[in-house]
Amino acid sequence: MDSILIQGGVALQGKVRIQGSKNASLPILAATLLVRESSFIRNCPRIRDVYSMISLLRSLGCSVNWQENGVYVDSSAVTKGEIGSEAVTGMRSSLCLLGALIGRCGQVVMEYPGGCVIGERPIDMHLSALRQMGVEFCEKEGRLQAAAKKLRGAHIVLPFPSVGATENVLLTAVKAEGDTVLEGAALEPEITALCRYLQCCGASIEGVGTDCLTIRGGSALYGADFEVPADRIVAGTYLFSCIGTGGNILLENAPWEEMTAVLETAEQMGGRLCTSREGLYVQAAARPLAVPCIRTQPYPGFPTDLQSVALAVAAVGDGESMIRETIFENRFRIAEDLRRMGADLKEQGADTMLVSGVEALKGAEVEARELRGGAALVTAGLMARGETKVTGCRYIFRGYENICRDFRELGARVTSA
Ligand code: EPZ
Repeated sequence: MDSILIQGGVALQGKVRIQGSKNASLPILAATLLVRESSFIRNCPRIRDVYSMISLLRSLGCSVNWQENGVYVDSSAVTKGEIGSEAVTGMRSSLCLLGALIGRCGQVVMEYPGGCVIGERPIDMHLSALRQMGVEFCEKEGRLQAAAKKLRGAHIVLPFPSVGATENVLLTAVKAEGDTVLEGAALEPEITALCRYLQCCGASIEGVGTDCLTIRGGSALYGADFEVPADRIVAGTYLFSCIGTGGNILLENAPWEEMTAVLETAEQMGGRLCTSREGLYVQAAARPLAVPCIRTQPYPGFPTDLQSVALAVAAVGDGESMIRETIFENRFRIAEDLRRMGADLKEQGADTMLVSGVEALKGAEVEARELRGGAALVTAGLMARGETKVTGCRYIFRGYENICRDFRELGARVTSA
């Protein structure tokens, strides 16, 4: 079941409910390690990256049990900060275990984390921030070792609002002695969700939702019942798929308040949008309009995780669009597959793609090589004439609970094979 077959050319119609957020649930699951009681994490998505995180937590001694509407994690038995599982190298978000385990056990031994092949993805900001809090690092036999005799609060300034580094500082600082002030923190809603979970557990954090967080270390942390917010990237994927197919849909539960830049782009593409307590209503134009420039940026800018799907839709836009990727260097890897489907794409330097919209894409066999690019190829298949086969779908299942079911609910002809 590693492929998806799509009979394209159907305008999406109907409604679909948006799953819980991958990038919020992963650091929250890691944060359960800081609590010596059980937490119930509601609306946790059933996706591969969550399963990998759960197997890492189990390997550390956590007891984890799925319920219909969420997952219980009891970390009372965790004693050692050593993780050796292969899952670490395959999942970048395992990096937030660094802060969580330092906070819990004072030491960590782990492989260097992996993730999607979307760029070099160094971890220098994580290491430098944690060093300022008293953590010492060394590398032994290719593994990262970290230890802290005593964690102390610090005044940290991030040179770039890294999502992962902000998460690691939060996870370490709640256990440090004294206050930590983090300037230049990432503003992504997933950071706010992590702060809210930690606050529910008893942590004292000020400035939530701003780029300056003050964390008062050392508060006792208790188990909490917490609901993961809906996934803004999944919602955005379906939104752009609707725009690309000329459809008319309701994205139930979509977190539209967190999607301002995305909604603006969808409107520029001719979409008529309406937000309500139910979610986000989308009515597409018959053909998407070209957009002069889509530029990815840290939140609240246009998210890099939706650049690929926007590129796929721009490929059938009425006119010329320009897409600039400023966060990750390898996020144009789907261009080659989109060209095979008939897209007219010209690279201008490493970070810019000029897109001359064609009237229609044609079905082809293409290969997912990473999560968001893979999902964008499914969208391209929905828009294309004829049949598209997307192989390598294991990457897509890392972040989408059931992309085939969701698109079928919207009337698309999609099967997994
Ligand atoms: C998070 O990755 C997300 N992953 C990514 O989602 C998302 O694309 C990214 O934030 C940006 O929004 C998770 O939440 C699990 P960063 P992260 O640290 O934390 C550079 C998806 O598809 N950098 O904000 O790794 C880095 O190379 C994914 O769901 C350093 O140079 O992102 C990149 O260019 C994939 N040194 C930029 O900063 C560092 O120490 C942003 O990275 C850290 C980062």
